[in-house]
Amino acid sequence: MNNRRFYIETYGCQMNFADSEVVNSILMNDGMTPVQRAEDADVIFVNTCSIRENAETRVWNRLKEFRSLKKDNKELTVGVLGCMAERVRDQIIDREKLVDLVVGPDAYRDIPNLLSEVDDGRKAVNVLLSLEETYADISPVRTSGNGVTAFVSILRGCDNMCAFCVVPFTRGRERSRPIDSILREIDELNHQGYKEITLLGQNVNSYKHESIDFTQLMDEASSQNPEIRFRFSSPHPKDFPIQLLHLIAERPNLCSYIHIPAQAGSDSMLERMRRPYTREEYLSLTELMKETIPGVSLSTDIIAGFCDETEEEHQETMSLMKTVEYDLAYMFAYSERERTLAHRKYEDNIPEEVKKRRLSEIIKQQMSIQEKNNLKELGNRHLVLVEGTSKRSDDQLSGRSDTNKVVVFDRKDFQKGDYVEVEVTGSTSATLIAKSIKKSSITDFYSESVLV
Ligand code: 5AD
Ligand code: SF4
Repeated sequence: MNNRRFYIETYGCQMNFADSEVVNSILMNDGMTPVQRAEDADVIFVNTCSIRENAETRVWNRLKEFRSLKKDNKELTVGVLGCMAERVRDQIIDREKLVDLVVGPDAYRDIPNLLSEVDDGRKAVNVLLSLEETYADISPVRTSGNGVTAFVSILRGCDNMCAFCVVPFTRGRERSRPIDSILREIDELNHQGYKEITLLGQNVNSYKHESIDFTQLMDEASSQNPEIRFRFSSPHPKDFPIQLLHLIAERPNLCSYIHIPAQAGSDSMLERMRRPYTREEYLSLTELMKETIPGVSLSTDIIAGFCDETEEEHQETMSLMKTVEYDLAYMFAYSERERTLAHRKYEDNIPEEVKKRRLSEIIKQQMSIQEKNNLKELGNRHLVLVEGTSKRSDDQLSGRSDTNKVVVFDRKDFQKGDYVEVEVTGSTSATLIAKSIKKSSITDFYSESVLV
């Protein structure tokens, strides 16, 4: 036991944020107290991301800033957690002298022991990956966030081996968490007043524990908690369960929003990326999503400038995005990562300025698609879950529709955590502006819209 104060700074994906909440729980059980500022902490942890080079650069810069805090406070301990841990452990400890403790994504239970090693004057490292660890019995502690929306991790690791991606190396093999522990965590969140839960995994639709698959898990979770909204991230197009589309269409609290990463739009590029589907298969899947779930909102991830990308392949990516008309896209320039198939087999041969130009063409087109999609929303009614005050004005609230669009409207008497029925009165490429109609609930809103 110890009574030190700790601070965790998190980079990267939602999964990493969920992991920091697991670490909160482990440290608090050991007697430590979370604080909100690095300056107030005895131990600083940085939960890191390796997905692109700039993610790593940000972390290195931050560690250098912490070095100056270490100069003022000789007792200060700095630890690196997460995806960068294994890949750069030697660098971290020997060369940079910035860090006392390095812990990989499957070794968080060991942090209290590792801290004792640091106390004894040693550097402490555990970067072992596991075939079983899911932290199933640990109730994550959510010290930041809005108290309304939460993430629940259901599956760790990834077996997909996309050619560009470092995740299988940083997070190890895929393993699913038992359904009982997932439902227990959801029940706890329900009692704490959470209203929206996103089930997380690097490849959520491969969830399988004993005989339970992903569709069954979504079915159980949503039927047991009818006033909680459920989302999931991220599925893989190669084995998307069609049954789940029907379930989303029928079940009011399964959100009509699917993030379905395409990465690229040509068969040749998809093959080089080791994405086992064709352009046509991907487009039939998104078509089926739109047919089965009227009004569904789709989003994607896209990489510009992957190895050997031709201008034609780039145009095919643009045309795929135009065909699907995504409501949201996360768009990146390719960044070579050590150990991946692309690093071993191909050359990172698209010049930086070409990557940038292609990426900006992709972004520009996407912004105009979003603007058009949002203009079509004028007059539509949505059920918005209020997440907090709008960034622009204290008189306005901000939340998201079932379709994951950010909606702002006048505060009136509504509060964080309310479901409010709104009508869209205006829009930009990123936001819907609306007027409130009345406070509502999932059950009321959807039974009334069926009657209409
Ligand atoms: N370079 C650029 N983007 C990448 N992604 C994954 N690896 C890389 C990389 N090496 C993107 C993919 C993935 C998202 C989480 O990050 O689009 O879906
Ligand atoms: Fe970054 Fe990927 Fe690790 Fe998430 S899993 S933190 S995106 S490298």
